[in-house]
Amino acid sequence: MGAPDFLETWSLGQLPRIERALEGWLGDARVPDHLGQAMRYAALGGGKRLRPLLVLAAAEAVQGHPQAALRAACAVELVHAYSLVHDDLPCMDNDVLRRGKPTVHVRFGEPLALLAGDALQTLAFELIVPEDAGIPEAMQARLSRLLAAAAGAQGMAGGQAIDLVHVGQPLTEAQLCDMHRRKTGALLRASVCMGAACAHQPVPPATWAALAKYGAAVGLAFQVVDDILDATADTATLGKTAGKDRIADKPTFVTILGLEKARAYAQQLLAQAEQALQASALAQTAHLRALARRLVMRHA
Ligand code: IPE
Ligand code: IPE
Ligand code: MG
Ligand code: MG
Ligand code: MG
Repeated sequence: MGAPDFLETWSLGQLPRIERALEGWLGDARVPDHLGQAMRYAALGGGKRLRPLLVLAAAEAVQGHPQAALRAACAVELVHAYSLVHDDLPCMDNDVLRRGKPTVHVRFGEPLALLAGDALQTLAFELIVPEDAGIPEAMQARLSRLLAAAAGAQGMAGGQAIDLVHVGQPLTEAQLCDMHRRKTGALLRASVCMGAACAHQPVPPATWAALAKYGAAVGLAFQVVDDILDATADTATLGKTAGKDRIADKPTFVTILGLEKARAYAQQLLAQAEQALQASALAQTAHLRALARRLVMRHA
């Protein structure tokens, strides 16, 4: 094995901070034991943690409030974990394997999976509106607005609703992009914007627009790659059942564009993300740049 690369070195420092913070927030003794267990099972000990890393890298780029950034990073991951629990339910994708383990409803039953998802989402909002953590209230409000809009009906939940009604139906490329931007892109874009919202002074509009453009490009690229991996990788590597999109007859970038064009499209989006970073005129964007590459070049 070679020496860890630049991004790995940084991630190796950030990931334990994220894990420790999540463990702390998911260890509230007031929560009924079985619900707490299901929530911890869903959120801890697995996952690439790409969204929290994006939050922290964006906060670093704007020299943001460190406590707000860590809370925002964990909040986004909790919303993501909730979305996976619900996405896997029999009424949605009906998946039995996630992050290399039986899905939450397989392990704890459907009613508790539903409630664990709900409670992970509300815990996310509790984290970003603390009373006593020294985070300015205007910043808390901005973080909450960004997360709510990305997770809600115009974002992730809306995208999932579009996904569910289009099983077995052809979509145009534009419709597919719209669905993917909402169901997956919105939360990734919000991760970047929430990191930027941790700046002590609101960032200039042109910088904000550039970061949002970067986030939108990596967000869409992420789901393009997810579709490619569903068709090309194996279950052991993914930690979730490979080939599910084909089995479920979902329209994906692979079915609409074909594998080669889908790969080329992911690269095109990566180039767009890199250009947007350049346009941001921020000095410390090396981790954001490296994360974009990791998101698009990943094998799992
Ligand atoms: C999987 O997301 C679901 C999508 C939104 C495509 P990730 O690939 O980030 O899943 P984890 O967090 O690493 O398990
Ligand atoms: C999931 O998309 C999007 C959300 C969870 C919001 P997929 O259904 O493609 O994700 P995987 O492939 O099950 O991880
Ligand atoms: Mg799905
Ligand atoms: Mg799924
Ligand atoms: Mg998928």
